[in-house]
Amino acid sequence: MLKRGGMTAEVPGIMPKYKIAWLPGDGIGVEVLKAARIVLDRIELDAEYIAGDIGWEFWRREGDAFPPRTIELLKNVDAALFGAITSKPAKRAAEELAPELRSKGVAYRSPIVRMRQLFDLYICLRPCKAYPGNPLNYKEGIDLVVFRENTEDLYAGVEFSPVPQELAEMLGKLSKPFAPFAKLAPEQYAISCKINTRGGSERIVRAAFDFARKQKRRKVTVVHKANVVRATDGLFLETAQAVAKEFPEIQMDDANIDAMTMWLLKNPFNYDVLVAPNLYGDIISDLCTQMVGGLGFGSSGNLGAKLGVFEPTHGSAPKYAGQYKVNPIATILASKMMLEWLGETKKAAALETAVAQVIKEGRTRTYDLGGTSTTLQMAQAIADKL
Ligand SMILES: NC(=O)c1ccc[n+]([C@@H]2O[C@H](COP(=O)([O-])OP(=O)(O)OC[C@H]3O[C@@H](n4cnc5c(N)ncnc54)[C@H](O)[C@@H]3O)[C@@H](O)[C@H]2O)c1
Repeated sequence: MLKRGGMTAEVPGIMPKYKIAWLPGDGIGVEVLKAARIVLDRIELDAEYIAGDIGWEFWRREGDAFPPRTIELLKNVDAALFGAITSKPAKRAAEELAPELRSKGVAYRSPIVRMRQLFDLYICLRPCKAYPGNPLNYKEGIDLVVFRENTEDLYAGVEFSPVPQELAEMLGKLSKPFAPFAKLAPEQYAISCKINTRGGSERIVRAAFDFARKQKRRKVTVVHKANVVRATDGLFLETAQAVAKEFPEIQMDDANIDAMTMWLLKNPFNYDVLVAPNLYGDIISDLCTQMVGGLGFGSSGNLGAKLGVFEPTHGSAPKYAGQYKVNPIATILASKMMLEWLGETKKAAALETAVAQVIKEGRTRTYDLGGTSTTLQMAQAIADKL
């Protein structure tokens, strides 16, 4: 797996080796992080876990779901484990804000998107492996790894609704296809900019190929829609083709996002490492996750040059919050990615083996696996294998 750059100075016997930001967030985020802690404690990771505030309650009370103190915390840790947050549409967010904050002009923005941009966590790494015997596997033997660009594309946050007159006038001058839209009143349409840079495309594609080389993977597939979205996806594909030349031993192919969803379901074994701009990466990683058991099994690493933030792919699942019934394996596999990132490869391998054993035995099963075990019982079963 990927490893971080610099290492923390270790002072034997005095300071823990690692500082880990502990960000439970909302809803089931709290429960799955408690579960992860059971296995991390059992595996005796030499770490100090420092709790950080993030999520909906901080939006309601303080008008900021990702307060400055949490940003400071993330500047001073080796890695972070993040549960999940609740996000709501702008109108609901404004309604739930504490009354004294309503006139302050604060606007809700997703903390995880902000975190990715602020710390330049440009890689979203999502391994999707079918652990043998998981009754939720679409097919046994699937082992895909998605590299999703994490800071640009349609998620750049450059959006207009209503569309300002000066922007409409400028687009009218610069773009012929804009003509039918130029006639509309500003509130009758909206614009979200898809922005892809050469540098941003190059580094995510290089990360995917580097990974393929280190892990002896055979192929990298570039996912795009360059036949229609010619400017941005054209740039992504062209950049990918140039990077691929540096890795002659690894096969490269490419596919349109729409065809890709179909091919992935039809022939998942034709694929290995997938790399995509932000939105397409989001789509294919959800599809790949579903093929290996669904949200209870999907884990992500948000990786930059200095910081790695690890999380389950799922959200705060309000309908299950407080019930301790969701599957913590996604978060435990995110912890395994964190161990790899820290360079604790033996502990990571031991943890993965323990997860695989519990899945294969099938004695401890949360509701999604057809059982009645609780979140913490599942974590304990995994810890007992370590
Ligand atoms: N990274 C994040 O923090 C993140 C990601 C997605 C959604 N969200 C937010 O989470 C909130 C809820 O969104 P949602 O309900 O659409 O998506 P969700 O991922 O929270 O849950 C959807 C459904 O998936 C299943 N599920 C999720 N996690 C599971 C687990 N660990 N084990 C078993 N089943 C699991 C449950 O049936 C759940 O109702 C929203 O506010 C959304 O914005 C946050």
